[in-house]
Amino acid sequence: MTLQLRVYVPPHPLIKHWLGVARDVGTPSVLFRTAMTELGRWLTYEAIREWLPTEDTQIETPLAACPATFINPEIPVVVVPILRAGLSLLDGAQSLLPLASIYHLGLVRDEQTLKPSCYLNKLPAQMHPETRVLITDPMLATGGSMVAALEEIIQRGVDPVNIRIVSVVAAPPALQKLSADYPSLNIYTAAIDEVLNDQGFIVPGLGDAGDRTYGT
Ligand code: PRP
Repeated sequence: MTLQLRVYVPPHPLIKHWLGVARDVGTPSVLFRTAMTELGRWLTYEAIREWLPTEDTQIETPLAACPATFINPEIPVVVVPILRAGLSLLDGAQSLLPLASIYHLGLVRDEQTLKPSCYLNKLPAQMHPETRVLITDPMLATGGSMVAALEEIIQRGVDPVNIRIVSVVAAPPALQKLSADYPSLNIYTAAIDEVLNDQGFIVPGLGDAGDRTYGT
């Protein structure tokens, strides 16, 4: 079977609404943060379908026996926000995954070379192959940062089929790179934008999500 990268752009009015707010140059930081939280929430809601592990059992209602399905607590669920901008999606993701462990990964792109370097890595030494990993980063531009994050996570034992990415704007170069390197990935994003400009910014994009989140 040939695996193929899957990129979902959920056709949800709340996702469209908050994407518009985030893109608008006139949106102040305080509202931008709200937009990112909401995008994190609704994109995570879509991303965890058929990913969050469940188990079937039997319960008693006040009237009769009844089959029921619950979240399986035995399989670890993890969120990896890529600092800084990925933190802006974390509150929304955590509101749906309150028991998930959060492992921070700090990556920054060199403004000239666009190559990422890692300044913080809180990932554990090893992870169970069945661990469900949700990576949050609002921008997939060249894809270099996401590839660096995936390398760190997969070398710790996680099966790539159990990894989902929540993004906001994704550009074709990133999707091409990820498709070539990690064909079993599932990406959930609010938009696929057209191009990268000469500085490696996504156009039309939403600017620098880290700077807009933190007012820097
Ligand atoms: C931005 C963004 C991604 C990365 C995308 O982070 O949040 O992590 O660039 O670019 P790429 O796909 O070309 O690697 P940045 O390095 O600006 O750091 P920040 O989040 O701290 O602002």
